[in-house]
Amino acid sequence: MKKLLFNIALGFSLIGFSQNTLLIPNTIESTNINLALQNSTYQFFPGTITNTMGINGAILGPTLIINKGDNLNINVTNNLGQPTTIHWHGMHISASNDGGPHTIIDPATTWNPQFTVMNNAATMWYHPHLDEFTDEHVSKGIAGMIIIRDTEEAALALPRTYGVDDIPMVVQTKDFDANNQIVNHSNSDDTVMVNATIDPIVDVPAQMVRFRILNGSTQRVFNFGLSNGASFYHIATDGGLLEAPNTVTRLQLAPGERGEILVDLSGMQGQAISIKSFASEFPNGIFGAATPGMGSGLTLNNYSPNAINGADFNILQLNIVAQTANPITAVPSTLTTITPFVEANADQTRTFDLAPITGGQNQLNGDFTINGVSMNMNTINVTIPLNNTEVWTVQNNSGIGHPFHVHDIQYQILSINGNTTIPENAQGWQDTYLVSGGGGSMKIITKFTDFADDTIPYMYHCHMLNHEDGGMMGQFVVVDNTSYVSENSLDTDAILYPNPNNGTYMTLQLTDNNEKIVSYSIINALGQIVSYHKVHENELSNMYSFPVFELAKGNYIIKANTNTAIITKHFMVK
Ligand code: C2O
Ligand code: CU
Ligand code: CU
Repeated sequence: MKKLLFNIALGFSLIGFSQNTLLIPNTIESTNINLALQNSTYQFFPGTITNTMGINGAILGPTLIINKGDNLNINVTNNLGQPTTIHWHGMHISASNDGGPHTIIDPATTWNPQFTVMNNAATMWYHPHLDEFTDEHVSKGIAGMIIIRDTEEAALALPRTYGVDDIPMVVQTKDFDANNQIVNHSNSDDTVMVNATIDPIVDVPAQMVRFRILNGSTQRVFNFGLSNGASFYHIATDGGLLEAPNTVTRLQLAPGERGEILVDLSGMQGQAISIKSFASEFPNGIFGAATPGMGSGLTLNNYSPNAINGADFNILQLNIVAQTANPITAVPSTLTTITPFVEANADQTRTFDLAPITGGQNQLNGDFTINGVSMNMNTINVTIPLNNTEVWTVQNNSGIGHPFHVHDIQYQILSINGNTTIPENAQGWQDTYLVSGGGGSMKIITKFTDFADDTIPYMYHCHMLNHEDGGMMGQFVVVDNTSYVSENSLDTDAILYPNPNNGTYMTLQLTDNNEKIVSYSIINALGQIVSYHKVHENELSNMYSFPVFELAKGNYIIKANTNTAIITKHFMVK
């Protein structure tokens, strides 16, 4: 839904005026972090009010500046009047702290994750992850940046004064309707913003400046470059520093991905240049490429029109001012060491096939599947033994590229479309990377260490939020083999009904008549056991009914021990 006001704003930005000072989000630099999710309003356009959701404010959230090794104590209070979750994207933490779709924060309640920061210095982010509502909550404004520091990065001569020579950039496109309200699940995302600022301009000193770029858009891929054609230095990917800076003129980032760059503005005081997206250079099959035609003879349904598809457009104007007191003026020659995983040592290989349910290659919008099934909260799709090294091949059987994201871990890319020469922007740690459309593939390797939990799953999914909401997501548990029985028993060996339940009784029934339910626990969305019951010897059976009227509304897991297995099922009390 394009509207006149946007056309005028875009016109002005192209000829260089009508600019707004870039919002620099506040920071929280503490191990005690209090976040309150709220409904609010924000003035994106002069004289009009847009309904938003924000964290500790009207739009977006504070940047969390934390250190490797910190023990964080976080309170997330949900004042939205509807359930949501908060996920710490990119962080290596336990499934119960991860904030995925099962860890629901009910309205007017507070979630209290506590964990140790294990990741290296990196740029991460946090955002809602409620099943089928992620796009709505993120598009309305809930997202924030996380900056992790560590001693290795601190020892390098890199710019790190937040908002001065180290600039956070949450880059998003949104669609506004005729009343200037945000439309979610839209392909008409033609308004570009950085940190919720449309047509932004920022003062930066005439020296080496670091930009931490997060693609926080629902669908759009960006092809970042400088308006003066100069090269810049790519220093970090999703999971942190590259081994050495890559000198590049373009950096492609798909939704969910981050990249850190250094731009040398020495000697340029008084000049103005822009960070732009050169989407005209995109090949077919990328959301953001020219329209029509995605792949040979292929048109994506509902892809066009959108004024910025295939266009080169401004992201952020840089107004270059005087140097700071102790400017960084050079780029370190090396940054870190990345030890490659060895493919030959993998314990397991798997394939993940991304496809729309109907419409074949022409289908842009959902619903979607991975390996033939859509996201189902009650199905654990993959079970991974703790400490497994795994090679995953992600195969794209649709006409559009999908950024593939995995929780819990950072991965290394072994090949792209069968080619083991990896692009410069992907030679480090990734948790999200674009698998190109029309038969593209990506082979990745990672190791699942430290955290096992056989009830709360982690997610893998397309990070185009409408695709994620449309079912292109799956669930994996990492299990400690000593306590784990069999993947199938999680789903097929028992039925639980009626589910959802309106607060009466539920029945767990095992499909094997000779199997007996011995005991069970009910675990709430925070991972706490809210009830435990041992079945009396006289009542041992393959079927057991239990009361749920004492349980608050919400999502639960029942974990039942039988005489031969452990059965895990999800249920909801409404
Ligand atoms: Cu950034 Cu599963 O999400
Ligand atoms: Cu994530
Ligand atoms: Cu997708």
